[in-house]
Amino acid sequence: MASEIRKAVYTDVPAITGIYNEAILTTTATFDIEPRTTAAQRKWFKAHGLKNPVLVAVEGGVVVGWASLSEYSDRCAYSDTAELSVYVKAKFRNQGIGRKLMEAVLAAGKKAGLHTVISRIVSGNDVSIHLHHELGFTDIGTMKEVGRKFGQLLDVDLMQKMY
Ligand SMILES: CC(C)(COP(=O)(O)OP(=O)(O)OC[C@H]1O[C@@H](n2cnc3c(N)ncnc32)[C@H](O)[C@@H]1OP(=O)(O)O)[C@@H](O)C(=O)NCCC(=O)NCCS
Repeated sequence: MASEIRKAVYTDVPAITGIYNEAILTTTATFDIEPRTTAAQRKWFKAHGLKNPVLVAVEGGVVVGWASLSEYSDRCAYSDTAELSVYVKAKFRNQGIGRKLMEAVLAAGKKAGLHTVISRIVSGNDVSIHLHHELGFTDIGTMKEVGRKFGQLLDVDLMQKMY
């Protein structure tokens, strides 16, 4: 079944939280360690204004993935820069949904007037790194051993797309 990509609405927050929490508990893709509460994610959602889209992928009426371009920093000179996040529910991965979400959120960011998008990707997340290269991101460096999760020290690759 083909997934539909649409703008996220407030009532999607519990589903977005569930998908993110699954990744927190089972992957090193995010350096969060404790699951987020829905209340915390409601604040996160409300912090996304006109320049910072949040999109969801819906399949059979169920939210199965989401992507966002969040503020990179609250320091004003960074206001045309955003940071990309993308998460797909485990059993829906590798079916083209992540690519569709990334394409759509990047198009929305361009329309909103962003100048550049940054991603911080744990080294070894080959699927994410592949998709970022495919969608026009270039490698801008690696932060060495900045994370520790599941007993492992982790590097973070930085990637950037210019509009
Ligand atoms: C990363 C993630 C969002 C991608 O979503 P997805 O729906 O699984 O991705 P897609 O099916 O759209 O695309 C997967 C791509 O990776 C490729 N791929 C699959 N296995 C791969 C591997 N081992 N190495 C490199 N590329 C690989 C596929 O061929 C496909 O590329 P293509 O479109 O050029 O054919 C999803 O895997 C996920 O939620 N992972 C956990 C959270 C995460 O890592 N988020 C990103 C944080 S930066």
